[in-house]
Amino acid sequence: NWTTGSILEEQVDRIREQVGDARVICGLSGGVDSAVAAALVQRAVGDQLTCVFVDHGLLREGEAEQVERDFVAATGVNLYVANEQKRFLDALAGVSDPETKRKIIGREFIRAFEEAERAIIAQAQAHGEKIRFLVQGTLYPDVVESGGGEGAANIKSHHNVGGLPEDLQFELVEPLRALFKDEVRAVGAQLGLPAEIVGRQPFPGPGLGIRIVGDVTQERLDLLRRADAIARAELTAAGLDNEVWQMPVVLLADVRSVGVQGDGRTYGHPIVLRPVSSEDAMTADWSRLPYDLLARISNRITNEVEGVNRVVLDITSKPPGTIEWE
Ligand code: XMP
Repeated sequence: NWTTGSILEEQVDRIREQVGDARVICGLSGGVDSAVAAALVQRAVGDQLTCVFVDHGLLREGEAEQVERDFVAATGVNLYVANEQKRFLDALAGVSDPETKRKIIGREFIRAFEEAERAIIAQAQAHGEKIRFLVQGTLYPDVVESGGGEGAANIKSHHNVGGLPEDLQFELVEPLRALFKDEVRAVGAQLGLPAEIVGRQPFPGPGLGIRIVGDVTQERLDLLRRADAIARAELTAAGLDNEVWQMPVVLLADVRSVGVQGDGRTYGHPIVLRPVSSEDAMTADWSRLPYDLLARISNRITNEVEGVNRVVLDITSKPPGTIEWE
């Protein structure tokens, strides 16, 4: 009988056996998989683990703090934070093509992670130590998708910024390889991780960078972050988090429409709500959210987020539409 407690004990034992007294590094994305993998390794080998969080400035409101403050408080993990917001903004300046954005974000992420890694290795070497292991939050479905077998690469690594890089100088520690997502969440809860992290809906590695249709600027990120926070807060308040697989909130930065707000005419941007229900993100249907919830989200976003004068609802299934707009 595989209880959450026994999964936890078994993984902790395995990690201890694999790692011995060597040092370990782990990248945190803000998502549930990397957080639970890191917390398990921390439980197993304590201060032999150093986590790296590359803050690319493309996370949603509160998410960087959840990693830097709440995750650290819950686990006591050693965390190295790389504040790279400016680097990503500079690299993305003037770029509006979705695939180009993904490539740039992925490339800068690897560079930033490697720099952080070098800084940590330099510290470790000052104490005569090397880092031998890299933790990855690979789940069982990822293993199956990539053809299985020991050492099979995480198929999503090109796609999933949080787990990168799979560097050949390290041996991999993959404590979630036998688990499904719901088991990962249960283990995370058992480890005492913050509910916001354990319950987090899927969020793409390139983050808000691919939820701005148009090029990415600080101002647009701030605007989108506010609109997204309002939409998420209202969904949660309505008790519908579990009905919805994911709800991208998208800024159409290259589109403007006329509105009337306060005393006058405005010429602002639309925000798109994209709530979907899905089993595995391969196919999806648009969520039939209650009209009064949609009305609250629309009223609050247009009242509280300057520059937005229209909220629209995406009623396309997947296929033909993808979940994200980019
Ligand atoms: P689409 O938009 O293809 O998305 O229907 C399917 C799922 O994948 C997520 N997604 C990404 N995740 N990096 C990621 O880590 C990406 O570049 C990326 N693009 C889409 C999307 O949020 C949905 O859950």
